[in-house]
Amino acid sequence: MPGYAMNYLALAARDVEAVCRFLGDSLELERKDVPLEGRTIPFFGIGKSAVAIFEFDDPYLEEPRFPGVHHMALGTDDPAGTAAKHGLTVAESGIGPDGKRFVSIEKSETVGIRTRFIEPLDIPAADGPAYKIDHLGIATDDNDATVRVFTGNLGCPIDSTQTDVEIRNVTESFISDKYGAVYHARPPEILGGLRDVFITIGDCELEMLMDYDPTLKPKEQLGEEEGNTKGDQSAIAKLVARRGPGLAHVAFATRDIDATLPKLAADGWRMIDVEGRPGGRGSLIGFVHPSNFGGGLLIHFVEPQADGGFAGKKFG
Ligand SMILES: [Fe+2]
Repeated sequence: MPGYAMNYLALAARDVEAVCRFLGDSLELERKDVPLEGRTIPFFGIGKSAVAIFEFDDPYLEEPRFPGVHHMALGTDDPAGTAAKHGLTVAESGIGPDGKRFVSIEKSETVGIRTRFIEPLDIPAADGPAYKIDHLGIATDDNDATVRVFTGNLGCPIDSTQTDVEIRNVTESFISDKYGAVYHARPPEILGGLRDVFITIGDCELEMLMDYDPTLKPKEQLGEEEGNTKGDQSAIAKLVARRGPGLAHVAFATRDIDATLPKLAADGWRMIDVEGRPGGRGSLIGFVHPSNFGGGLLIHFVEPQADGGFAGKKFG
């Protein structure tokens, strides 16, 4: 396999119990409690990877600590040697979950994406409504630098690139009772948007999200609205301004998003979307509200184009 595969993804939560109920009960993922320095950390196998749930102030997580996606750990039998081979600076090394050796890479060298190399943990995965990690959303202000690190240096292939913009079209009409109607279409106005690059890492992708045009609108004018492209740019712009570039959200692949989202709502989870809407790569997407987990942790679902997606689906 070219490049590296994700061994686990570390999520930090204010309400670990709620995240475990979400992943274990509602998504039917298999849980394995893994020892770490006298305590145990819940891991949930998914696809060829796993998600590990930490209290947001757990000392295994380097600072600054806040709820959300904390780091990704790439599997390798020789963590320190792998970092050296790629000329990456080790910020910290130690013994992680299940006694595995790990190194953390200086995050300025991975464009703010907190990355570790670790001896692979073996976490069993069950099939269910979420069958793999689809991608990690990364808020960035420099897609090219991210490509240089993960593709140029670490050898992970680019899956695809795309640009998402929200456009307003205005048409004026001049209607006379004698001379008929004249229509005058104004040039389309771009309200907001994102440039995306998808980089393959094992059985999932890194999704770089960068402002379509940072000078287009003052950030404040993008508004607080959720559930559309303009709102997505607003969320990413605010995240970069507040925390700097880095891991922003995790997305799970599901085979039938219009069954999964309502089922989660019926289980009592607060949802931003209860039906799929168009997302990247011809997929349908739908977000879970971060308030379910005490805030800060953003999760969404993806029905990839291969499973149906929005190809052929009509939206009003
Ligand atoms: Fe995403």
